[in-house]
Amino acid sequence: MCGIVAYTGYREAYPLIIKGLKRLEYRGYDSAGIALLNGGLRIYKKKGKVSELEESLKNLPLSGNIGLGHTRWATHGEPNDVNAHPHYSSDRKLAIIHNGIIENYDALKKELVNRGHVFLSETDSEVLIHFIEDIQVNSQCSLEEAVRLALHRIVGAYAIVILAQDASNQLIAARKGSPLVIGIGKANGPASEYFLASDATPIIEYTNEVVYLKDHEIAVIRDHQLSIKNIDDVPTTPYVQTLAMELESIEKGGYEHFMLKEIFEQPRSVYDSMRGRVNSKQGYLLLGGLREHLGRVAKAPRIIIVGCGTSWHAGLVAEYLFEEFARIPVEVEYASEFRYRNPVVNEGDVVVAISQSGETADTLAAIELAKAKGAFIFGVCNVVGSSIPRASHAGAYTHAGPEIGVASTKAFTAQVSVLAMMAIILANERGTISKGLFYQLLVELEAIPDKIDQVLQRSTRKVQHIANTFKDASNFLYLGRGYNFPVALEGALKLKEISYIHAEGYPAAEMKHGPIALIDEAMPVVFIATRDSSYEKIVSNIQEVRARKGRVIAVVTEGEQLISQMAEFVIEIPVAHEALMPLISVIPLQLLSYSIAVMRGCHVDQPRNLAKSVTVE
Ligand code: F6R
Repeated sequence: MCGIVAYTGYREAYPLIIKGLKRLEYRGYDSAGIALLNGGLRIYKKKGKVSELEESLKNLPLSGNIGLGHTRWATHGEPNDVNAHPHYSSDRKLAIIHNGIIENYDALKKELVNRGHVFLSETDSEVLIHFIEDIQVNSQCSLEEAVRLALHRIVGAYAIVILAQDASNQLIAARKGSPLVIGIGKANGPASEYFLASDATPIIEYTNEVVYLKDHEIAVIRDHQLSIKNIDDVPTTPYVQTLAMELESIEKGGYEHFMLKEIFEQPRSVYDSMRGRVNSKQGYLLLGGLREHLGRVAKAPRIIIVGCGTSWHAGLVAEYLFEEFARIPVEVEYASEFRYRNPVVNEGDVVVAISQSGETADTLAAIELAKAKGAFIFGVCNVVGSSIPRASHAGAYTHAGPEIGVASTKAFTAQVSVLAMMAIILANERGTISKGLFYQLLVELEAIPDKIDQVLQRSTRKVQHIANTFKDASNFLYLGRGYNFPVALEGALKLKEISYIHAEGYPAAEMKHGPIALIDEAMPVVFIATRDSSYEKIVSNIQEVRARKGRVIAVVTEGEQLISQMAEFVIEIPVAHEALMPLISVIPLQLLSYSIAVMRGCHVDQPRNLAKSVTVE
């Protein structure tokens, strides 16, 4: 959470930083601010979105070739102008931007207050810059050394960048736990340029040569030179990577919202997640990251899946897949619970960590815990080079491309695709599925992108009509069974997070153990009732809702007769193997939540209180 951007080079820093902040706004949008060397060190910051900051500055002459910017997701202190970043040191000669949480800030703040420091904000970040200043003044050392000494005493997570009034050609950055990427721009005569950001999206327009700063590293860009040392002052050699990301992939491409664009990208993103990995004609299925470790993973006595939110839902689908096909016992855990409950993890257990961003703090902590207990970690992530893949022993990228909308859509289907491939590979290795089923599943997998496309082409209008009918509802219930139960959870999560309508997902059969009490003529109930092994059972559940006058919206398989007579609305989707159905049945639910949110005037891509990358626990 929180997005940070900084620049030093030969271009005007202000427009570049504002543009970068807009790209990072998905990480938080409670306030925005920038610091520039514009006739002295100046900070401009404001509650609200980056565009509001930009509007407030439009008549100011903001020039200079170095600067910092921050877009905030509030942790310490409410979202207001004062708590917005950047923050000054007490002499106003240093400015800091920070993403993360300083856990021991309170103790440090008391120490500093006793030494005469006065704080303007309630943030932990202001404490950090005062602490650095205090060390520099008292130890008469360089700023770089003061940063190093200060970070030795910091407990918590940070990605920081510091700009100093007295060093017009210097940025100092460091990270632990929160991401920080350094883009190496093109040289312009003797001058060169560097971009720093929470991810590569603000950078990619200018360069695709990047260095991902590692935990406990401090980078100094001074006089057009980058040097990196670890926190013990030992120089390290930067590993420069060339990113394959395209600028178009992080722009809206004519769609009204990123979320809509990302929903419509799914035929492509699911295809990309399988490209080069599945070939039914050759009977070929391969996940490069699994190949070397296949023996070990296939022999695992148990697989534990950890993730949060939508990634946890993908994990639930994987539980069904791994157990049905590979016959390996699976537990799916919320990473946030797993990390704090002293779980039993044995050597030989395999932990599959699922994350779009690869930066989710709870998932990272769950990985570290499981690693310490001897588990083998397999990461399933979308963002290349992010922290979770780096913390994992092995893994597979999902290749969904950058997901900017805060509500996860294409990441989910890409995760399920990769997890389905993994389940089939393991099953094949363990001999728990027949050759016939193996080939059938490959053919079914390859057909998925086309089927997603059919849903998008055929159901968008119908879904808009349903959305218009129910946009003012106060509650929704989503019910599914088997593979469609996690889809019910995902449908409900999508609706609540972007439209602010209360929604619950339940296994359909659980309804009679409580939620049925909620059903009356005002309650829309979305059934995911495709033709699968629990079809008859879910038909009975639909009847139970109808008997209580609930309003039924059903996602059904093409050609469905029975449910069409019972439901007020049906959305037909193509036939698919039931194990792969979540990849298709989730699509109308994504469209439904999107359409309702738009009709309610909600900010679809940046829903209130949320951030895309949850780097705090
Ligand atoms: C929901 C959503 C969140 C994320 C969750 C995990 O639409 O986006 O629930 O799924 O914060 O994030 P990652 O997958 O980045 O670990």
